[in-house]
Amino acid sequence: MQRQIFVTSALPNANGPIHLGHMLEHIQTDIWVRFLRMQGHEVVYVCADDTHGTATMIKAEQEGITPTELVDAVRQEHLADFNGFLVEYDNYYTTHSEENRHYSELIFSRLQEQGLIYTENVEQLYDAEKGLFLADRFVIGNCPKCNAEGQYGDNCESCGATYNATELGNPKSIYSGTAPELRESEHYFFDLGKYTDFLREWTRSGSVQPEIANKLSEWLDDELRPWDISRDAPYFGFTIPGTEDKYFYVWMDAPIGYMASLQNLCDQREDLNFDSFWGQDSSAEVHHFIGKDIVNFHALFWPAVLDGAGFRTPSRIHAHGFVTVNGTKMSKSRGTFILAQRYLEHLNPEYLRYYYATKLSDSADDLDINLDDFVQRVNADLVGKVINIASRTAGFLVKHFDGELSAELHDPSLMQQFTNAADSIAEHFERGNFGKAMREITALADLANQYIAAHEPWNMIKDAERKADVQPVCSQALEMFRALMIFLKPILPDTARRAEEFLAVEPFQWADLTTHLGSHRINPFKAMLQRMEVKQVEKLVDAPEPQAPEQAQATVSKTDAPISIEDFNKIELRVARIVSAEPVDGADKLLRLVLDVGDHQRQVFSGIKAAYAPDDLVDRLTVVVANLAPRKMRFGVSEGMVLAAGPGDADIFLLSPDSGATPGMVVK
Ligand code: MSP
Ligand code: ZN
Repeated sequence: MQRQIFVTSALPNANGPIHLGHMLEHIQTDIWVRFLRMQGHEVVYVCADDTHGTATMIKAEQEGITPTELVDAVRQEHLADFNGFLVEYDNYYTTHSEENRHYSELIFSRLQEQGLIYTENVEQLYDAEKGLFLADRFVIGNCPKCNAEGQYGDNCESCGATYNATELGNPKSIYSGTAPELRESEHYFFDLGKYTDFLREWTRSGSVQPEIANKLSEWLDDELRPWDISRDAPYFGFTIPGTEDKYFYVWMDAPIGYMASLQNLCDQREDLNFDSFWGQDSSAEVHHFIGKDIVNFHALFWPAVLDGAGFRTPSRIHAHGFVTVNGTKMSKSRGTFILAQRYLEHLNPEYLRYYYATKLSDSADDLDINLDDFVQRVNADLVGKVINIASRTAGFLVKHFDGELSAELHDPSLMQQFTNAADSIAEHFERGNFGKAMREITALADLANQYIAAHEPWNMIKDAERKADVQPVCSQALEMFRALMIFLKPILPDTARRAEEFLAVEPFQWADLTTHLGSHRINPFKAMLQRMEVKQVEKLVDAPEPQAPEQAQATVSKTDAPISIEDFNKIELRVARIVSAEPVDGADKLLRLVLDVGDHQRQVFSGIKAAYAPDDLVDRLTVVVANLAPRKMRFGVSEGMVLAAGPGDADIFLLSPDSGATPGMVVK
């Protein structure tokens, strides 16, 4: 029976680049989708960037562009990374879209009609200088339990206590460094408590993995608390209908982004109908692939919101664990925070797809990339065992038999073992146990290699009496190779395509496993997949990533301690003359400055456009941080930073030395 299946990967945040952790999820989803398509099912796979929230707003401000400009640019980068890893969505959209606004408002109003929304005043920390309510992670202070300094507003890294940001001692905003004040404002709540019983049942109905259901029962043992779904202005997002300064909390509209992406696709494709996937009586399946850190949003809030708003709930949430590198958390300082882009500069994406597949299961266990093991598996198992079957046998057929395969199988019972494995391998794919599927496939590849080694076609061909048998033996080898490539196609789409060309066949389907090529002419063998070079792998981790700009720019360092004169002396401040100043295309707040710093000129991007007309800046003297590490921005490299005072926008005041100073002078 043909199934109709809607599949999503979690929507990556639009305020950072894609790394190999994200990639696990998208590769996992893509393999599952490709497998189901090969089985003939109708699968729609969508994703989008998750754009809203304070973090996007702040990041855009730092880059001197508007949030919309930022999310548009980041979406292109994300998409390029996913394409690079051969992830094939039907649509990759954005949560900052009219479709998403429509469904967010619709869902909210239906929840209101159901009496599931109410408002209540909430006291929260507020940065008066920035004019911003502060999320927990944006406040730093002393732990209320153990008094450790420099702790975030949600939990203490020293003693593990969890608390409210309002309980911190000596709290400081990470944006302005000032002490936040308590302010009251009205928030909107979704009455999640009413869904406690519903969710107890739903999470035990096979919708989530048993280990995840156990984890969720920690919340579900008590009645669930109401969920705060609003945030105050300023915020980047959608305003709540009927208000001017209340916004949907980003986690309210993010999962709705799954629907919005589908709606956007339905508007382009006549054969697709939104309600057949999301309507209450839909017979389609809905599957979300996510990381274990966001299960509460997907397995508690989301089904409750959907049900409250009259939509069907998901069929299954597939939660995976976290990627580690050489046994430890990916880390910038260790140089193991591997960006997708960096990987693609050095290695074939199919290597990683293969490696992840060998390690994936239906559990949410963490998954380690061990770089030695990575090389070993790809070279020994994939290239050495699978690809080699074809490279060792094809030549004889092409050279001596005009590329013709034998009509009859040479060893039908051996071939039968491949055919018989199809159901069990399919079952592993279906359940997400890709690692088990891969072990069966590798075991079959071993059989094929033993068969070739036993017959030694390279010796047979030299022996006049046995020469004729080379054709059936090599044909059998290629029949087995073909079966292996059908099994591997969801994982290695490019290599499978090359195998199809080599074998001169239509694109592989799962059903092809029940047939053989028989009498058929193949094309000459061309290299399908190279061995991996250790040198290339080393490049993944050798060069540590530059420090993230967010960290470099936080106003308050976590420990807030005084710095020594030695620390201060590390900063090289110099007088600079502004040679030219011009606006930057696509960046609302930035100017590109060319500075004369005495012995040379350099380029600096500065977020002072709202405060200065470019022409007024030319020939002015100012002060530049001359030894700041160059920073690659979207528009070019910024080599330094000019010093200015003030809160931002039009209120920025460039520092200038008194008259008499000349470019290049050291400022002390
Ligand atoms: N924007 C939210 C998801 C909204 S879904 C409606 C979010 N974004 S994220 O960019 O932080 O993470 C996106 C996905 O990547 C999540 O499923 C997360 O678990 C996953 N991963 C992020 N880092 C990861 C690893 N190191 N390893 C594996 N997956 C990881 O959460
Ligand atoms: Zn503590």
